[in-house]
Amino acid sequence: MGQHSAAVWDYRAATEITKDWNGIDQVVLRNPQGALARVSLHGGQVTSWRNEHGEELLFTSSKAIFKPPKAMRGGIPICFPQFGNCGSLEQHGFARNKIWAIDDNPQPLLPNDSNVKSFIDLLLKPSEEDLKCWPNSFELRLRVSLATDGDLTLTSRVRNVNGKPFSFSFAYHTYLSVSDISEVRIEGLETLDYLDNLCRRERFTEQGDAITFESELDRVYLSSPNVIAVLDHEKKRTYVIRKDGLPDAVVWNPWEKKSKSMADIGDEEYKQMVCVDGAAIEKPVTLKPGEEWTGRLQLSVVPSSFCSEHLNL
Ligand code: BG6
Repeated sequence: MGQHSAAVWDYRAATEITKDWNGIDQVVLRNPQGALARVSLHGGQVTSWRNEHGEELLFTSSKAIFKPPKAMRGGIPICFPQFGNCGSLEQHGFARNKIWAIDDNPQPLLPNDSNVKSFIDLLLKPSEEDLKCWPNSFELRLRVSLATDGDLTLTSRVRNVNGKPFSFSFAYHTYLSVSDISEVRIEGLETLDYLDNLCRRERFTEQGDAITFESELDRVYLSSPNVIAVLDHEKKRTYVIRKDGLPDAVVWNPWEKKSKSMADIGDEEYKQMVCVDGAAIEKPVTLKPGEEWTGRLQLSVVPSSFCSEHLNL
């Protein structure tokens, strides 16, 4: 009998702390069926999510640079306290470039967490250096959990600890692994307004009945539904993204020309990835002292034959 097949599931044995490529702690989460997720304390970044057959579901660039202080290209970097490059802060904020701590005061599991088989709670508090460029007193907590069915859930909570009110934007910059971007179709964002990052964030309305890819695409879809499906025709599988507290959805593929200009992605690798992020961007979140915000992202994979009707798209 395997270590994890005992009648009483041992949460502690299912959560292992090892070192990543840079000697930085990473947490490995496992479920009884053999699914796995890895979370690095560098950035609180999920760097791997595998199903029970050992197949990797998140993209990681073969040229990824696994070296602080930049986030590695792939997995799920956390963009906080800003998305993009609009203020004095670094692109997508500093959270993805910092070393997080394991939260030694974790929240209990909630009744609707009954499927959770393994989880970790991480914590980011601002350093002196962070406070110089973003003088706001916050705590950012992240729970990453892996469920019986292999679903991966990320729950972030930002708390205004005791300072003046502050505002932030946020995104789970999720790099999904796909067989061929030309065969990918995203459902759930049709007819929505979006800000086009390729046209100085000008606002347009989506006209197509689904999103498909034939060139670089870099958009923030506004007030999107809480369920989005990413269909991979070649693999006949669909990623289902469920989000809560995250009104917007970013869709990004760099395509050929931009990939060639980026040091940490192979020239052809844009074909194997698509970023679809649950995000809060258009209307930044404002917290008064003592207030807390929660943003939750749940990722599942289902056979594509499991049609859209089941997903209430
Ligand atoms: C996208 C942005 O979401 O992230 C793009 O809209 C950006 O403009 C991309 O190029 C990747 O950003 P970074 O900082 O991880 O290279």
